[in-house]
Amino acid sequence: MLDRPPSLVVLGIYAADLTLLTPRLPAWGETVLGSAARLGPGGKGSNQAVAAARLGARVALLAKLGADPFAAAARALYAAEGVETEFVFETTTAATGTAAILVDAARGENAIVVVPGAAAALGAEEIALAEGRIAAADGFLTQLELPTALVADGLSRARRHGVRTLLNPAPAAPLEDTLLAMVDVLTPNESEAETLTGIAIDGPEAAARAAAALAARGVGAVVITLGPRGALAFAEGTARLVPAHQAGAVVDTTGAGDCFSAALAVALAEGQPLAAAAAFACRAAGIQVTRPGTAPAMPYRREVTPPAPARSSPPRA
Ligand code: RIB
Repeated sequence: MLDRPPSLVVLGIYAADLTLLTPRLPAWGETVLGSAARLGPGGKGSNQAVAAARLGARVALLAKLGADPFAAAARALYAAEGVETEFVFETTTAATGTAAILVDAARGENAIVVVPGAAAALGAEEIALAEGRIAAADGFLTQLELPTALVADGLSRARRHGVRTLLNPAPAAPLEDTLLAMVDVLTPNESEAETLTGIAIDGPEAAARAAAALAARGVGAVVITLGPRGALAFAEGTARLVPAHQAGAVVDTTGAGDCFSAALAVALAEGQPLAAAAAFACRAAGIQVTRPGTAPAMPYRREVTPPAPARSSPPRA
Protein backbone atom coordinates (compact mmCIF):
# COMPACT_ATOMS: atom_id res chain seq x y z
CA MET A 1 0.00 0.00 0.00
CA LEU A 2 1.17 3.55 -0.74
CA ASP A 3 2.20 5.74 2.21
CA ARG A 4 1.18 8.92 0.32
CA PRO A 5 -1.90 10.01 -1.62
CA PRO A 6 -2.06 8.29 -5.01
CA SER A 7 -1.36 10.45 -8.03
CA LEU A 8 -3.53 10.25 -11.14
CA VAL A 9 -3.83 11.92 -14.54
CA VAL A 10 -7.29 12.02 -16.10
CA LEU A 11 -7.60 12.76 -19.82
CA GLY A 12 -11.12 13.77 -20.84
CA ILE A 13 -13.67 16.48 -21.30
CA TYR A 14 -15.57 19.03 -19.25
CA ALA A 15 -19.20 19.66 -20.19
CA ALA A 16 -21.80 21.97 -18.73
CA ASP A 17 -24.69 19.60 -17.94
CA LEU A 18 -28.24 20.84 -18.42
CA THR A 19 -30.32 18.22 -16.64
CA LEU A 20 -34.09 17.99 -16.92
CA LEU A 21 -36.28 15.67 -14.85
CA THR A 22 -38.92 14.10 -17.02
CA PRO A 23 -41.71 11.53 -16.59
CA ARG A 24 -40.58 9.83 -19.83
CA LEU A 25 -38.46 10.33 -22.95
CA PRO A 26 -40.15 12.48 -25.62
CA ALA A 27 -40.63 11.09 -29.11
CA TRP A 28 -39.21 13.09 -32.05
CA GLY A 29 -41.42 16.12 -32.62
CA GLU A 30 -43.02 15.83 -29.18
CA THR A 31 -42.76 18.16 -26.15
CA VAL A 32 -42.96 16.67 -22.65
CA LEU A 33 -43.48 18.73 -19.49
CA GLY A 34 -40.62 18.15 -17.04
CA SER A 35 -40.62 18.69 -13.30
CA ALA A 36 -37.21 20.28 -12.58
CA ALA A 37 -34.06 21.62 -14.26
CA ARG A 38 -30.51 22.23 -13.14
CA LEU A 39 -27.26 23.40 -14.70
CA GLY A 40 -24.06 21.94 -13.29
CA PRO A 41 -20.58 20.63 -14.03
CA GLY A 42 -20.20 17.41 -16.01
CA GLY A 43 -18.18 15.68 -18.70
CA LYS A 44 -16.92 12.18 -17.94
CA GLY A 45 -13.24 13.08 -17.58
CA SER A 46 -13.97 16.09 -15.42
CA ASN A 47 -16.41 14.09 -13.27
CA GLN A 48 -13.79 11.38 -12.82
CA ALA A 49 -11.13 13.92 -11.83
CA VAL A 50 -13.43 15.45 -9.19
CA ALA A 51 -14.39 12.02 -7.86
CA ALA A 52 -10.77 10.90 -7.58
CA ALA A 53 -9.81 14.13 -5.79
CA ARG A 54 -12.67 13.69 -3.30
CA LEU A 55 -11.51 10.12 -2.71
CA GLY A 56 -8.05 11.30 -1.73
CA ALA A 57 -5.95 11.31 -4.91
CA ARG A 58 -3.75 14.07 -6.30
CA VAL A 59 -5.33 14.56 -9.71
CA ALA A 60 -4.21 16.42 -12.82
CA LEU A 61 -6.89 16.89 -15.48
CA LEU A 62 -5.81 16.99 -19.13
CA ALA A 63 -8.63 18.75 -20.99
CA LYS A 64 -9.59 21.74 -23.12
CA LEU A 65 -12.20 24.43 -22.48
CA GLY A 66 -13.56 27.30 -24.54
CA ALA A 67 -13.17 30.94 -23.47
CA ASP A 68 -16.67 31.42 -22.09
CA PRO A 69 -18.67 31.43 -18.83
CA PHE A 70 -18.88 27.62 -18.79
CA ALA A 71 -15.05 27.51 -18.77
CA ALA A 72 -15.01 29.92 -15.81
CA ALA A 73 -17.41 27.58 -13.98
CA ALA A 74 -15.10 24.66 -14.71
CA ARG A 75 -12.07 26.49 -13.35
CA ALA A 76 -13.98 27.50 -10.21
CA LEU A 77 -14.91 23.83 -9.74
CA TYR A 78 -11.30 22.67 -10.01
CA ALA A 79 -10.12 25.36 -7.57
CA ALA A 80 -12.76 24.25 -5.06
CA GLU A 81 -12.04 20.54 -5.51
CA GLY A 82 -8.24 20.73 -5.61
CA VAL A 83 -7.92 19.37 -9.17
CA GLU A 84 -4.62 20.42 -10.82
CA THR A 85 -5.22 22.61 -13.89
CA GLU A 86 -1.73 23.03 -15.36
CA PHE A 87 -2.89 20.94 -18.32
CA VAL A 88 -6.41 22.34 -18.68
CA PHE A 89 -6.02 24.27 -21.92
CA GLU A 90 -8.31 26.85 -23.50
CA THR A 91 -9.29 27.83 -27.04
CA THR A 92 -11.16 30.78 -28.46
CA THR A 93 -12.22 28.83 -31.55
CA ALA A 94 -14.81 26.52 -29.96
CA ALA A 95 -17.25 26.61 -27.07
CA THR A 96 -16.82 24.64 -23.86
CA GLY A 97 -18.49 21.21 -24.01
CA THR A 98 -22.16 20.87 -23.16
CA ALA A 99 -24.51 18.00 -22.41
CA ALA A 100 -28.29 17.66 -22.38
CA ILE A 101 -29.36 15.06 -19.82
CA LEU A 102 -32.86 13.69 -19.37
CA VAL A 103 -33.40 11.96 -16.04
CA ASP A 104 -36.43 9.75 -15.43
CA ALA A 105 -38.01 11.45 -12.41
CA ALA A 106 -39.25 8.14 -10.96
CA ARG A 107 -36.36 5.74 -11.60
CA GLY A 108 -33.31 8.02 -11.84
CA GLU A 109 -32.25 6.48 -15.19
CA ASN A 110 -30.73 8.90 -17.73
CA ALA A 111 -30.32 9.58 -21.43
CA ILE A 112 -27.53 11.92 -22.53
CA VAL A 113 -26.43 13.85 -25.60
CA VAL A 114 -22.95 15.33 -25.14
CA VAL A 115 -21.17 17.81 -27.43
CA PRO A 116 -17.44 17.88 -26.54
CA GLY A 117 -16.94 21.25 -28.27
CA ALA A 118 -13.56 22.75 -27.32
CA ALA A 119 -12.47 19.46 -25.78
CA ALA A 120 -12.26 17.87 -29.22
CA ALA A 121 -9.71 20.55 -30.19
CA LEU A 122 -7.20 19.21 -27.67
CA GLY A 123 -4.00 18.54 -29.59
CA ALA A 124 -1.43 15.76 -29.37
CA GLU A 125 1.14 18.49 -28.67
CA GLU A 126 -0.83 19.45 -25.56
CA ILE A 127 -0.91 15.84 -24.38
CA ALA A 128 2.87 15.79 -24.96
CA LEU A 129 3.24 18.77 -22.62
CA ALA A 130 1.71 16.64 -19.85
CA GLU A 131 4.00 13.66 -20.44
CA GLY A 132 6.20 14.41 -17.40
CA ARG A 133 3.12 14.56 -15.16
CA ILE A 134 1.81 11.32 -16.67
CA ALA A 135 5.18 9.62 -16.11
CA ALA A 136 5.10 10.60 -12.42
CA ALA A 137 1.54 9.30 -11.88
CA ASP A 138 0.35 6.05 -10.32
CA GLY A 139 -2.47 5.75 -12.83
CA PHE A 140 -3.82 7.22 -16.08
CA LEU A 141 -7.58 7.25 -16.66
CA THR A 142 -9.48 8.18 -19.80
CA GLN A 143 -12.80 7.64 -21.63
CA LEU A 144 -14.17 7.87 -25.19
CA GLU A 145 -15.58 11.40 -25.30
CA LEU A 146 -12.40 12.56 -27.04
CA PRO A 147 -11.31 11.45 -30.53
CA THR A 148 -9.92 7.89 -30.34
CA ALA A 149 -6.53 9.00 -31.69
CA LEU A 150 -6.06 11.28 -28.65
CA VAL A 151 -7.17 8.53 -26.29
CA ALA A 152 -4.64 6.18 -27.90
CA ASP A 153 -1.94 8.85 -27.67
CA GLY A 154 -2.55 9.31 -23.95
CA LEU A 155 -2.64 5.58 -23.28
CA SER A 156 0.59 4.96 -25.18
CA ARG A 157 2.41 7.75 -23.32
CA ALA A 158 1.31 6.30 -19.98
CA ARG A 159 2.31 2.80 -21.09
CA ARG A 160 5.73 4.06 -22.18
CA HIS A 161 6.37 5.11 -18.58
CA GLY A 162 4.99 1.96 -17.00
CA VAL A 163 1.96 3.84 -15.60
CA ARG A 164 -1.22 1.74 -15.10
CA THR A 165 -3.81 2.64 -17.75
CA LEU A 166 -7.57 2.57 -17.20
CA LEU A 167 -10.11 3.11 -19.97
CA ASN A 168 -13.78 3.74 -19.24
CA PRO A 169 -15.12 2.95 -22.76
CA ALA A 170 -17.97 5.45 -22.65
CA PRO A 171 -19.82 6.47 -24.75
CA ALA A 172 -19.98 2.97 -26.25
CA ALA A 173 -17.92 2.47 -29.41
CA PRO A 174 -16.23 -0.44 -31.14
CA LEU A 175 -12.46 -0.40 -30.53
CA GLU A 176 -9.43 -1.79 -32.36
CA ASP A 177 -7.40 -4.51 -30.66
CA THR A 178 -4.34 -2.25 -30.88
CA LEU A 179 -6.07 0.22 -28.56
CA LEU A 180 -7.42 -2.46 -26.22
CA ALA A 181 -3.90 -3.88 -25.89
CA MET A 182 -2.81 -0.57 -24.32
CA VAL A 183 -5.40 -0.88 -21.54
CA ASP A 184 -4.50 -2.40 -18.18
CA VAL A 185 -8.02 -2.08 -16.75
CA LEU A 186 -11.20 -1.61 -18.82
CA THR A 187 -14.42 -0.48 -17.08
CA PRO A 188 -17.42 -0.89 -19.42
CA ASN A 189 -21.03 -0.98 -18.31
CA GLU A 190 -23.30 -3.68 -19.71
CA SER A 191 -24.16 -1.94 -22.99
CA GLU A 192 -20.57 -0.85 -23.58
CA ALA A 193 -19.36 -4.42 -23.01
CA GLU A 194 -21.97 -5.61 -25.49
CA THR A 195 -20.85 -3.04 -28.09
CA LEU A 196 -17.25 -4.17 -27.67
CA THR A 197 -17.88 -7.92 -27.76
CA GLY A 198 -21.28 -8.56 -29.36
CA ILE A 199 -22.24 -10.56 -26.24
CA ALA A 200 -25.58 -9.51 -24.72
CA ILE A 201 -24.93 -8.98 -21.00
CA ASP A 202 -27.98 -10.45 -19.28
CA GLY A 203 -26.19 -11.42 -16.07
CA PRO A 204 -22.85 -12.21 -14.42
CA GLU A 205 -22.18 -15.30 -16.56
CA ALA A 206 -22.48 -13.37 -19.81
CA ALA A 207 -20.39 -10.59 -18.26
CA ALA A 208 -17.67 -13.12 -17.44
CA ARG A 209 -17.72 -14.36 -21.05
CA ALA A 210 -17.50 -10.79 -22.37
CA ALA A 211 -14.64 -10.01 -19.99
CA ALA A 212 -12.77 -13.13 -21.12
CA ALA A 213 -13.30 -12.12 -24.75
CA LEU A 214 -11.87 -8.66 -24.03
CA ALA A 215 -8.90 -10.16 -22.20
CA ALA A 216 -8.26 -12.39 -25.23
CA ARG A 217 -8.09 -9.20 -27.32
CA GLY A 218 -5.31 -7.78 -25.14
CA VAL A 219 -6.93 -5.98 -22.19
CA GLY A 220 -5.17 -6.65 -18.87
CA ALA A 221 -8.18 -6.78 -16.52
CA VAL A 222 -11.87 -6.01 -17.03
CA VAL A 223 -14.41 -4.70 -14.52
CA ILE A 224 -17.94 -4.68 -15.96
CA THR A 225 -20.44 -2.63 -13.97
CA LEU A 226 -23.82 -4.37 -13.67
CA GLY A 227 -25.95 -1.64 -12.07
CA PRO A 228 -27.89 -3.00 -9.08
CA ARG A 229 -26.15 -6.39 -9.48
CA GLY A 230 -22.74 -4.89 -8.68
CA ALA A 231 -19.65 -5.45 -10.81
CA LEU A 232 -17.84 -8.38 -12.40
CA ALA A 233 -14.07 -8.20 -11.90
CA PHE A 234 -12.04 -10.37 -14.28
CA ALA A 235 -8.28 -10.87 -14.23
CA GLU A 236 -5.94 -13.72 -15.14
CA GLY A 237 -8.79 -16.00 -16.16
CA THR A 238 -10.74 -15.58 -12.92
CA ALA A 239 -14.05 -13.72 -12.57
CA ARG A 240 -15.42 -12.44 -9.26
CA LEU A 241 -18.83 -10.90 -8.73
CA VAL A 242 -18.70 -7.93 -6.37
CA PRO A 243 -22.10 -6.99 -4.89
CA ALA A 244 -23.59 -3.53 -5.33
CA HIS A 245 -23.81 -1.20 -2.35
CA GLN A 246 -27.25 0.15 -1.56
CA ALA A 247 -26.76 3.42 0.29
CA GLY A 248 -30.35 4.66 -0.11
CA ALA A 249 -32.99 5.40 -2.71
CA VAL A 250 -31.62 5.89 -6.24
CA VAL A 251 -32.21 9.50 -7.27
CA ASP A 252 -30.01 9.95 -10.35
CA THR A 253 -27.68 7.41 -11.98
CA THR A 254 -25.91 10.04 -14.12
CA GLY A 255 -22.17 9.94 -13.44
CA ALA A 256 -22.28 6.63 -11.54
CA GLY A 257 -19.91 5.07 -14.07
CA ASP A 258 -17.56 8.04 -13.69
CA CYS A 259 -17.60 7.63 -9.93
CA PHE A 260 -16.95 3.89 -10.27
CA SER A 261 -14.00 4.27 -12.66
CA ALA A 262 -12.41 7.02 -10.58
CA ALA A 263 -12.77 5.06 -7.34
CA LEU A 264 -11.33 1.95 -8.98
CA ALA A 265 -8.35 3.98 -10.26
CA VAL A 266 -7.74 5.44 -6.79
CA ALA A 267 -7.94 2.08 -5.01
CA LEU A 268 -5.69 0.33 -7.54
CA ALA A 269 -3.17 3.18 -7.34
CA GLU A 270 -3.14 2.69 -3.56
CA GLY A 271 -2.17 -0.94 -4.10
CA GLN A 272 -5.52 -2.61 -3.41
CA PRO A 273 -6.12 -5.90 -5.30
CA LEU A 274 -8.66 -5.80 -8.15
CA ALA A 275 -11.66 -7.31 -6.29
CA ALA A 276 -11.11 -5.08 -3.24
CA ALA A 277 -10.76 -2.05 -5.51
CA ALA A 278 -14.00 -3.02 -7.29
CA ALA A 279 -15.77 -3.32 -3.92
CA PHE A 280 -14.51 0.16 -2.98
CA ALA A 281 -15.79 1.47 -6.34
CA CYS A 282 -19.19 -0.19 -5.78
CA ARG A 283 -19.48 1.54 -2.41
CA ALA A 284 -18.57 4.92 -3.91
CA ALA A 285 -21.03 4.56 -6.82
CA GLY A 286 -23.74 3.28 -4.48
CA ILE A 287 -23.52 6.55 -2.58
CA GLN A 288 -23.24 8.72 -5.71
CA VAL A 289 -26.56 7.53 -7.17
CA THR A 290 -28.47 8.65 -4.06
CA ARG A 291 -27.75 12.30 -4.92
CA PRO A 292 -28.68 14.51 -7.87
CA GLY A 293 -26.09 15.58 -10.44
CA THR A 294 -22.71 14.27 -11.52
CA ALA A 295 -19.58 15.98 -10.12
CA PRO A 296 -21.45 17.53 -7.16
CA ALA A 297 -22.78 14.07 -6.21
CA MET A 298 -19.34 12.41 -5.93
CA PRO A 299 -18.71 11.03 -2.43
CA TYR A 300 -15.79 11.97 -0.18
CA ARG A 301 -13.33 9.39 1.10
CA ARG A 302 -14.67 9.55 4.65
CA GLU A 303 -18.12 8.51 3.35
CA VAL A 304 -16.79 5.52 1.40
CA THR A 305 -14.29 4.33 4.01
CA PRO A 306 -15.74 5.39 7.35
CA PRO A 307 -13.27 5.68 10.23
CA ALA A 308 -12.84 2.51 12.29
CA PRO A 309 -15.24 2.46 15.25
CA ALA A 310 -13.68 3.53 18.56
CA ARG A 311 -12.55 0.50 20.57
CA SER A 312 -14.55 -0.05 23.74
CA SER A 313 -12.40 -0.50 26.83
CA PRO A 314 -12.06 -4.08 28.09
CA PRO A 315 -14.52 -5.06 30.80
CA ARG A 316 -13.18 -4.59 34.30
CA ALA A 317 -12.30 -7.71 36.25
O1 RIB B 1 -21.19 10.27 -17.35
C1 RIB B 1 -22.01 11.39 -17.20
C2 RIB B 1 -21.53 12.51 -18.07
O2 RIB B 1 -21.66 12.15 -19.43
C3 RIB B 1 -22.32 13.77 -17.91
O3 RIB B 1 -21.78 14.62 -16.93
C4 RIB B 1 -22.31 14.37 -19.32
O4 RIB B 1 -21.63 15.58 -19.38
C5 RIB B 1 -21.66 13.32 -20.20
O5 RIB B 1 -20.36 13.62 -20.48
